[in-house]
This record gives sequence, C-alpha cells and structure tokens, in this order.
Amino acid sequence: MEKSQKIGIFDSGIGGITVLNEILKILPKEDYIYFSDSKNNPYGDKNDSEIIKICEDIVKILINKNCKAIVIACNTASAKAADFLRNKYRNIPFIAIEPAYKKVHDNAYQEETLVMATKGTIESEKFKLLYHTYDNKKTQLLSCIGLADLIERDEKEKIREYLRENLKKYQGKIKNVVLGCTHYPIIQDEIKHVLGENVDFFNGAPNLAIHLKEVLKEKDLLAENKGSIEFIDSQNLGIKKERFFELLNKD
Ligand code: DGL
Repeated sequence: MEKSQKIGIFDSGIGGITVLNEILKILPKEDYIYFSDSKNNPYGDKNDSEIIKICEDIVKILINKNCKAIVIACNTASAKAADFLRNKYRNIPFIAIEPAYKKVHDNAYQEETLVMATKGTIESEKFKLLYHTYDNKKTQLLSCIGLADLIERDEKEKIREYLRENLKKYQGKIKNVVLGCTHYPIIQDEIKHVLGENVDFFNGAPNLAIHLKEVLKEKDLLAENKGSIEFIDSQNLGIKKERFFELLNKD
C-alpha cells in the first residue's frame, strides 16, 4: 500500500476548523484531509452507539485514503468513540480532544468556572471522570443543547439570542470559560459580550496540537509536505466548503 503522508481530521461539521487552525500553527507543512460530517450533524444529542457507528464509518474512509494519523476534532466523538476506535484500529494513532478543565485546575483553580459543552460530552463517563478529578468546587456545567447546530448553520442572530437567554444568569459571576465543544471558539466574542469582557477562555485545541506533534515525532511520522488541505463534506455541501475555507487560519 502506498505510504500516505496525510493527517485525517473530522468533526460533525465545520467546528473542527478551530482545532485544525491550532494544528496548522505548529505543523504547517503537513498535508491534511478534513472530513465534515454534516449528514449526521449534530452529534451532541446522539447516544454512544450511534456516535461510535458514525465515527467508525468516517475512520474507514480516512484509513482508505491512507491517513497516517486521525484527529478526532470533536469533544463529543472523542468522549464516546475514542476508546473503541483505538482498540479496534491499533495500527493508526488517534488524537482526541477533551474540554480543557485540567488547564483550569493547573492555572486558575481559584476562579469561578463555567464549562460549556454538548449534552453528550457533559453526560459522558469520560467527562465525569475529568470533572471529578479536577473539580475546583466553583464550577458550573452547562449542556448547550442546540448551540453547535446554530453555529454550524451560521445563524448569527439566533446565536446571540441563545447566548443572552442561556448565559445571562452567569453574567459578571464567571472568570473561566471552558469551551468544551470545538464549535464554540468560533463565537468566543459573542460569549464574551454576554458574560463580561474579563472572562478567560480555556480551549483544548492548543494542547491537542502539541500532543499530535509529539505522537507523530515518536512514531517517526512527521513530514514536510505542501501544507495542502483537502475538504470533504459527507453531504457534499458547497456552502460548508466555502465556510470552512473562510474560517481557515482565522484566529
Ligand atoms: N463540535 C462537536 C464537539 O466538539 C460536536 C457538535 C455537535 O455536533 O453537536 O462536541
């Protein structure tokens, strides 16, 4: 089989771009295949076996394209399917993301904290373990049902309305905000607008990028290629492709 130099990366839609952007900062010369699964979007409310099935189908496609490593650029999919995929496909490294709650523990333990994530992530065994291990006793957990979907559809006014309705009660009371879904960094400014200008954001993507580089190095898989990015959408939606390239390299 031809040796591929590409890194596969997937999410339920374009949210994983916030992960790819962090990866590109430290691995700009790798080649990438980004898989946006708009056919099954959103993942947030699906049960474990549905998520596992969906992720396995995507992984098969990426493996068929000879990817050398696969990044699960979705907190929900990482929480529910990473263990299964690692066990079943032992020859390929999977790099998963998790809400940056440990970062809060290590850097801002004393501060009032809000974890925003999908229902699936918040209710997952993986997240429960993370939360109980690093609990700073000043943390509120918020399942943001439907928010990733609004971001996916770029419904700007509805996003502002959603945030006003769901975050208002935390206004001025929160210092740390954990962005526990890869879609949320896209609306960081809007979140700040409701919660207050002095909030600090915690995002798992920069650590994932560092970890990916370490894994590739350890397995002797680091490459200097063209830095190409192939975009695939499971519904072949042109609009997704446009949005993806619009958000690429945008901080
Ligand atoms: N972006 C995904 C995450 O990080 C999932 C969003 C969704 O499809 O519900 O959890």
